[in-house]
This record gives sequence, C-alpha cells and structure tokens, in this order.
Amino acid sequence: MKVTLLSKPYELAQQCLLAMNISYICSRCHRRFALNTFAYKCECGGAFELEKVPPKLSLGKLKSRANSIWRYREVLPIIKDENIVTLGEGMTPLIKERIFDKEILLKLDYLFPSGSYKDRGASVLLSKIKELGIKTVVDDSSGNAGAAIAAYCARAGITCEIYCPETASEGKLVQIRLYGAKLNKIPGSREDTAQVIQKKAKEVFYASHNWNPFFMEGTKTVFYEICEQLDWKVPDSIIMPVGYGSIIWGIALAGRELKDMGVISNLPKLVAVQTEAISPIYEAFRKGETKVTPSAQGRHTYAEGIACANPIRGEQILEVLRATDGEVIKVSEGEIAEGINILAQKGIYVEPTSAVVVAALKKSLKVEEGKTNVIILTGSGLKATDKMLKIFREFAAKEKV
Ligand SMILES: Cc1ncc(COP(=O)(O)O)c(C=O)c1O
Ligand SMILES: [Zn+2]
Repeated sequence: MKVTLLSKPYELAQQCLLAMNISYICSRCHRRFALNTFAYKCECGGAFELEKVPPKLSLGKLKSRANSIWRYREVLPIIKDENIVTLGEGMTPLIKERIFDKEILLKLDYLFPSGSYKDRGASVLLSKIKELGIKTVVDDSSGNAGAAIAAYCARAGITCEIYCPETASEGKLVQIRLYGAKLNKIPGSREDTAQVIQKKAKEVFYASHNWNPFFMEGTKTVFYEICEQLDWKVPDSIIMPVGYGSIIWGIALAGRELKDMGVISNLPKLVAVQTEAISPIYEAFRKGETKVTPSAQGRHTYAEGIACANPIRGEQILEVLRATDGEVIKVSEGEIAEGINILAQKGIYVEPTSAVVVAALKKSLKVEEGKTNVIILTGSGLKATDKMLKIFREFAAKEKV
C-alpha cells in the first residue's frame, strides 16, 4: 500500500502530534505510522492501534464538567479544544429494569443526536480529522455510523461521501443525505460495500469507523460513563451487540486505561451478541479458535448493524472475550422480534440490531441474579421504521395463528 505524506497543514499538525507522543502502531507487526498517513491499515494487513502516553483523568474535576463524552477530556487525544466537533453527545441514562425476572441496568445508548451510540466515535474521529486539516472524507457503513459521520462532518464543515448497502434502513439513508453527504447505495451484502470503498480509499481520506482507532477512542467513553454512574464500581457483566466490535473494543480500551490509572482493578464479563444468520465470532469462540473465519455471506437478518461476515479485529475481540471470562451468544430472528416487543412494552423503542441483547439475557450463563448486569441499547427504532413495520406484521400474523 502507498503511504502518502501530506504537506503544510498536515505537517504542522504532525509536529504537534509528535510532541504529544502519539502515533499509529500496527496490531500485527508493530510498525509505526505517523497520524497524517492516508493509509488506513498496515502493509501487512494489520489494523492500527494508537500508541500514546497513558492518559490521566482527574476524577475530582468531573462534577463541574459538561454532561457529554468531553467530560473525560484528558483521555480523548485531541490537542486543541477549538478542534472539538461536538453535538453535546453522551452521558446517556442508566436505568433499572426487570426482564425475564432478572434485575438489570439498561444503558440507553440510542439517545444520541443522530440516534445511535456511533456519535461517540464520530465526535472524536471528526475532531481529529479537523485537527489534521483534512477537508474531504469517505466511509462505508450499515447505516448508523454513516449517519453519525455525516452529522459530525456537517457540524465541522467537512465534505463527506458515504457508501451503504442498498438494503440499509431508509431512515438512516435519508438522514445521511439530509446532513449533506453524498450517498452511494451498493447492491449486495455489507462486505460488498466494504469492498467497493477499498478503491475510493486510495483517493480520499478514509474516515473508517472500523479501521481508524480514533473512533474507538470515542466508543470507549461508554465504559467511563457506566463506571462513573456506578460511583466507579465495575459492573459484573455487560451485554452488547457485536459486528465489527467498536463497543467491545472500546470497553476493553477504557478498562485498560482505568486500570492503569488505578481507578478500577478488574473488567466485567463481556457478553457479545450475534445473529444465527451471521455469527463468525460466535463460531470461532465456540470452537476455541484464536482467529475468526469469515462466515458465509448473504444470509438475511433484520439486525443489519451486526451483519458482518468478516470482522477486521476478530482476533482481538476473541482475546478480550476470553480474558474477561465472557461469552458469545447467537439469537434468531424470532428472538429479535420478541426482544423489540419486550422492550417496547417498557417504553423503550430500539432497532433490531439493538434488540438482540434481550434474548441473550435469557440465554447467558454469565448474567447472575444479585449481581450488577448492564445491557447496552445501541440504536433508535425510529430510524428503522421499514424493518420495524415488517417485524411487527410478521409478529402479529404469528400471534393470530
Ligand atoms: C445499532 C447498532 N448496534 C450495534 C452495532 C455494532 O457495532 P460494531 O459493528 O462496531 O460491533 C451497530 C453497527 O452498525 C449498530 O448500528
Ligand atoms: Zn503490520
């Protein structure tokens, strides 16, 4: 892969970044890359991680800070405040509920400006892109991340082009267009969309929410928030949907930082949820493998956000799951519908990708009564009306029989 180094504004930004001691490091061969590279992965194919000075957070200062992800300012690696691109995202509610007779805490991470938790990552990634002086970006997405990137590009005055599967929920696609991004609908699976963007990424900066580690610097804030909301106690388990793994990876990152700072001493059991249609991480975990074999593509699931046949950080996700004594659960389309219904009866309206966690709660061996168990709800149902309606009709038809 050609690594392009850019001139002037990028060089200036680069000097600041070197002063901060921060660079990309390949997770596979450990080669270092400057942050102003146009490469989005290493020549060996490995994903980048960030190499940086371990951050230090002043817990005492938090009380007086904004109720957004930026309250954790010291751990978000943006140099100048003026480059922060924000819509006031974060500090979502953590509420108590009983489901399947288990007491749980629901983290309402669908309550974000663009309607999904992806705003956490988009805010930090776009802040960094602004700081680097980059004016045009592309990304590929199942819909939510594309909408989040487009929203924060609009906020930052950055031109943006998004590639989505043509089957993505209309609500997400309309959103992307209205934010002013150019939208390209790609026939086929989520992997087909990921393939198409490879060519484009050689010409324009690829603001990839899956490859670029600055996105995970944003998604990690969910774990900072959960711990703060629990008075810096670590919950016993966290259940979440996993496709490419931005939430689980973010939690692992935050956990490592909080442990290094001496704020916490352990991580919760992490429970990843996939669907019966596409479950590469489930299969690898069950077989005790360390690498993920891509699953067959094209199988239908309403959980479009986790329809990822080939997760790029698969090995790391497996490592995190095993290190935390976690597990992977797969759920059926019927169970997704049931999950939507159960949550809606409690006033919570989430999309199918998000509702997978409900059935997992029933099946999990790691969620024990009397312990602190958290479920992360990631995306609003309001954006997936077309799918919600289909599910509702199928559900109603079955109930009649
Ligand atoms: C609502 C929702 N939840 C969860 C996910 C899974 O995120 P990841 O692919 O980073 O694991 C997505 C991804 O698009 C999503 O849209
Ligand atoms: Zn490498």
